[in-house]
This record gives sequence, C-alpha cells and structure tokens, in this order.
Amino acid sequence: MSENTKFVLSEDEMPKEWYNINPDMPVNPAETAWNAVLHPGTKEPVTPEFLSALFPMRFIGEAVSMDRWIEIPEPVREIYRLWRPSPLYRARRLEKALDTPAHIYYKYEGVSPVGSHKPNTAVVQAFYAKEEGTLGFTTETGAGQWGCALAMACKFFELECHVYMVKVSYEQKPYRRVMMQNYGANIHPSPSDITNFGQQILADDPNSPGSLGIAISEAVEAAVASQGKLKYALGSVLGPVLMHQTVVGLETIKQFDLAGEYPDVVIGCIGGGSNFSGFAFPFLHQNFTNNTETRVLAAEPMSCPTLTKGEYTFDFGDSAGMAPIVKMHTLGHNFVPAGIHAGGLRYHGMAPHVSALYDNGNIEAVALPQLSTFAAGRQFAQAEGIVPAPETTHAVKAAIDEAIKCKEEGTSRVITFNLCGHAHFDLSAYDDYLQGALHDHEYPEEEIKDAMQHLPEVSL
Ligand SMILES: Cc1ncc(COP(=O)(O)O)c(C=O)c1O
Repeated sequence: MSENTKFVLSEDEMPKEWYNINPDMPVNPAETAWNAVLHPGTKEPVTPEFLSALFPMRFIGEAVSMDRWIEIPEPVREIYRLWRPSPLYRARRLEKALDTPAHIYYKYEGVSPVGSHKPNTAVVQAFYAKEEGTLGFTTETGAGQWGCALAMACKFFELECHVYMVKVSYEQKPYRRVMMQNYGANIHPSPSDITNFGQQILADDPNSPGSLGIAISEAVEAAVASQGKLKYALGSVLGPVLMHQTVVGLETIKQFDLAGEYPDVVIGCIGGGSNFSGFAFPFLHQNFTNNTETRVLAAEPMSCPTLTKGEYTFDFGDSAGMAPIVKMHTLGHNFVPAGIHAGGLRYHGMAPHVSALYDNGNIEAVALPQLSTFAAGRQFAQAEGIVPAPETTHAVKAAIDEAIKCKEEGTSRVITFNLCGHAHFDLSAYDDYLQGALHDHEYPEEEIKDAMQHLPEVSL
C-alpha cells in the first residue's frame, strides 16, 4: 500500500476508450435502449427521425451500441488533456479527523476548467455536432454547471450555444451566467418570450421563477424549430452521457493500482445519474466480470428522493410533457422539489440505466437531509481544503457515514467517492448554511403522491 496522498496518471495513461455498460446490463436491454423511449405525443417508441432532430447521429448510435468499449475520438482526447487525468487523493487528514480505521479516497473532478465533471460529455457532444455540420446547440441549465460546460465546449468547436437558464438562478447567481457569456454563449432567462412554451408560461404568470422542467421544454422546442440547424444537448440521464463520464471511473481504477488498494465501497451523488454512473460503472464492470464485490452507493437528497422513494415506471423527462417518456424511477414529472441548494439534484427522474440497476439490486441508494450534507461539506473543507459543491456534499456525507460505521465496527474498509465539483460559485449556499438560514425539508409524501396521479398512460 502506497504512503502517497495524491495519485496522478500521465496524459498517456488517460483511457482511450469509454466503458459502455449496455452489454453488461443485468436486465433486458429493451428497458434502457431507444425502444423503451417513447414519443411524448404518440407515446409510441420514438423514431430515428424524431431523435435525429434533437441529437447528433453518432450520439444516437452510442445509445444502442452493444460494444463494451467505445473509442474516445482523438479531438476529444486532445481537449480532455487540458484537465485529465484528474487526481485521486487519499483523504488522510479527514481520516484522522474522523479517527476512523477506514481508508478514504476521493477523485477530484473540480480540476476541469468549469469546476465539475460536466465537460466530460459536453466536449463529446460538441465534437459530434461539429462533425455533422450542425450550427450549434440549445440546452437548459439550473445554476449553470452544465451550461458552463457546454458553452466552453461549443466555443472550442466554434458552435453556437443557446442556454435556457432557470430565471431565478439567472437573477440570483450571476457568476456562471457571466462565465457562459464569456465563452460566447447566448443566455435566455427561462421562461423566455422567444419560445411558444415560454410565452405560454409568462402569459399565465409574468413573474414565473422558472424550473428545470420548463427550461428543458424551451430548449427542446427551440432545437426542433431550428429545422436541423441546432441540436439539443442533455447533460445527464441518457446512456451516451453516462458512458462519456466513465473516463472518470476508468482512471480511478488505474489510480487504485498505484495506491495498492481496491475500494470496498464506491459512492457518488446523484441527480440525473451522470456523475454517479461515470464513477461507478467501471467498478460494476469489475463486479460483473472479475468477481469483485464492491458496494456501489448513490447519495440523493431527502427532499427529492427519486431512487429511494420513486416508482419505477414510465414518465416524461421534463415537466411540460414535451421531452421523451422513459422507464425510470420517478417522483412524477410535475413534482417540484423544495428549493434546496443542491440544484443539480432537483430532478424528478433518473437515468434509465441507474433505475434498472437499482431495481435489480446491483446498487444501493441513500437519501440525505440538506443540513447534514452541508455539515459534511464543511467538515471535509476544514480537513482537506476543497469546498465541495452542494451536490457533491451528498457523496461526502455518505462517505463520512461509512467511515464512522467502520470505526464503530472496528473494521478498516476502503471507501471512495467522486468529488465531482467545487463550490466556488455556490458559496452563497454555504453562506446561508453558516447564517442558519437553511433548514431540512420533510419527505414530501403528499406532493409526490399527487404528482404520481399525472403519469402518462402508456401501452408497453
Ligand atoms: C457538481 C454536480 N454534481 C452532480 C450533479 C448532478 O447531476 P448528475 O447526476 O447528472 O451528475 C450536478 C448537476 O448539475 C452537478 O453540477
């Protein structure tokens, strides 16, 4: 076992292929492939024409591919080299602070130019769009992590980038908006007056603060209306997005070789599923093929407990019912989660792959209340220096809980989590926490029950 604190790979050691979990899914592939994706209007399986109006063809091909390893194109690797391979750290100071026999390791994706894991797929989607001769992308963003990643990627490939940013974030959290504008992106506060859906929302409520669901609906409408000039980029949920993120977990496995250890527990925070999957799927591959028995744990917010409390059924991907319908764990597409600061985890649904793996018992999940996650984020910062993004604090809290369990049981286990983003643009959340202005939200049982009355009826 190494005495080092930091485990770094050279650029040459960066993975040359992503891991595609499709052939290893322990469920019927029909549950996660495009034939389980239904058109929001007809509720029949989507056609290639419908999909190609939204996504680049190469991206669509990846979703149905049964090749276990898919080559990372060289122009993408060239950009990945700006920050990849990212470091793996042994959290020795946190271990000491917790007085635990556990060994805690964290992979740090905050070293990307925009401070999170999101560019790992943004760069790929931009490359595919450029290759096809598309002019640019539309997308949505909440607090701006995904929007910044796509804005940067689009600039690298000289593509237009039109971001529908949830209005309340546009007004209250200007720094990521400025960052996106600095990359040359066009930012529209959502609801906007430039789409039919936005106009409809504004007519009903001129002061609507917006929501991620509304912003997705606007971005999808704008892509379809562009008649092929613009495609729609999604930063999570879909199979290819999860696959692009596996570069994170694949690097981590190599770094554990350097550390001379192998994890017993792998943890990721989870919103739509991309960070968790990118980190955890390569370890699941080892479980499936190499007889390892690593526990894989997803950490979600108590106020939006999609995996632990949601139903595994068909639902719309957005609030307005304009995006495709998929089989996933859902709290109901018109459930509006409480305004917790971990904006990236406030999504009613879940990646179909993650849902199927959870349903099949391959992964575990835990739902955590907001205050405990900020306390863990602060404890981590005080020991290790890095201030984790509000989303990431969920993984930090889950890792600390596992380490404390080791202490109570007198066992040493190897625990790892993905520190998928820093909080440099989210410090207002910590400010609220330090001022005592944050509170926990009860599990929203009644609201979820109500939202579940509005699931689409499908014949599959
Ligand atoms: C730092 C960070 N972590 C996690 C998430 C959750 O998304 P996903 O589950 O796709 O990783 C987000 C989403 O915006 C994010 O910004």
